[in-house]
Amino acid sequence: MSAFVDVPRRICAICGAAALSFIAIGVYAEADEFTTLKGHGGPVMALAVSPEGQVATGSFDNAVGLWNKRVPQWLEAHEAAVTALAFADAERLITAGDDFALYLWSQGSHTGELIGRHLGKIRALAVTPDGDTLVSASWDGEIGLWPLAGGSEQRIKVGSGINDVAVGPGGAVYAATMNGQILVYEDAASAPRRLVDQGFGINQLVLGPDGDWLAYGAVDGATRVVDSQSGDPVADFTLERRPILAMAHHEETARLAVGDGQGYIMMVDTETWRISADFRATREGPVWALDFAPDGQTIWAAGLDDLAYGWPVALIGETEAQMAGTRGFLKDPATMPNGERQFMRKCSICHALGPGESRKAGPSLYGVFGRPAGTLAGYRYSEVLDGSDIIWREATIDALFDLGPDHYIPGSKMPMQRITDPQDRFDLIAFLKRATEVEKVTK
Ligand code: HEC
Repeated sequence: MSAFVDVPRRICAICGAAALSFIAIGVYAEADEFTTLKGHGGPVMALAVSPEGQVATGSFDNAVGLWNKRVPQWLEAHEAAVTALAFADAERLITAGDDFALYLWSQGSHTGELIGRHLGKIRALAVTPDGDTLVSASWDGEIGLWPLAGGSEQRIKVGSGINDVAVGPGGAVYAATMNGQILVYEDAASAPRRLVDQGFGINQLVLGPDGDWLAYGAVDGATRVVDSQSGDPVADFTLERRPILAMAHHEETARLAVGDGQGYIMMVDTETWRISADFRATREGPVWALDFAPDGQTIWAAGLDDLAYGWPVALIGETEAQMAGTRGFLKDPATMPNGERQFMRKCSICHALGPGESRKAGPSLYGVFGRPAGTLAGYRYSEVLDGSDIIWREATIDALFDLGPDHYIPGSKMPMQRITDPQDRFDLIAFLKRATEVEKVTK
């Protein structure tokens, strides 16, 4: 096992392809250091940590990153965004997403094995406490129960789209629905019991140790804890922020982490039911996913930034300002020059600025000034851009966002987006000129 530790990829002896290497034991965590996992070409929507501390990330770029320290291995099978991940154990990872498909990735193999499909986007995965069954929640209104050792699957028909699932120690399945209910299924055959009626879609569920309490987070910002049998209220941490998008729990350290649409992570002590920390965790946009390292000393978070962050829990008591000052990674959009802020908010999800390969949806804008449209080598443009005679300069980029790509180059793959304020376009173009400039090679 330990042979895998420092070797990010193994080569398959038969076909020469790189085989998956899941790392061994806790060499991974650097509990007192802030960690950034960089490489995805789009927002990171899902994150899971294996029982041995290995991090897996799923992204809008359709890929799954399996991280050996800061080095990713890309698991590529999905045809749309990867939105749910679960480790069955340290050597088996299950992935699911907007392509309705579920894949199983095992150590030593180099391809994902298709487990099955839903008829809608898959939002969450869980493994039963006995480790025998994978549970999937889909917007098709069904919960899938997939025996991990093989055998035929079962479905629970819920009828409303399901955002999350949790499984109790006795096997009861808790479903959080888009129409705002938590339903409990004692088994696949019997009718459900309604535990909570929230009125707004419920996004997240966490079942406490021994299944005694159930925490949930909803679209309207509700962050509540109820008795898992009676549904009686235990605690309420609802703040102004919404929606709640991510939750994670660490049993030994009694911490519940809650992530929201405004980029904050709140930590709740599950023994005293008090908020122990609350801080801004992503530079921009929501916290889509959270999970604790096995020792509870690191909380991993993912969001709009195309990155995953590992926060040392011990440092989280500090304020955001201190964090930003000492670590220097957080850049507050309010203090950025306008042009850079325009780019970060409106373009950076899809475009890189530097040379070299990028995993983003659009071509890199490196050297774009003076470049004929549709000519970056290696990028697959739409036909309209390919055959266009536009040359990108101040005036043409200005027109692109004054009129909107849908009018300026109808049929292109660019999203409909206009920047109506001329000053914003001017500042954006000035920023792009500087940031995309090709370094002159001196002879
Ligand atoms: C959601 C993804 C997305 C966003 C956001 C986006 N773009 Fe694009 N962009 C694309 C895609 C995809 C293409 C390629 C279009 C095609 O092939 O038709 C493209 C093409 C371009 C091109 C032409 C490049 C070339 O090589 O011909 C420019 C210039 C550009 N984008 C600038 C911007 C700027 C500036 C912003 C922000 C204001 C922006 N884009 C926002 C996806 C995006």
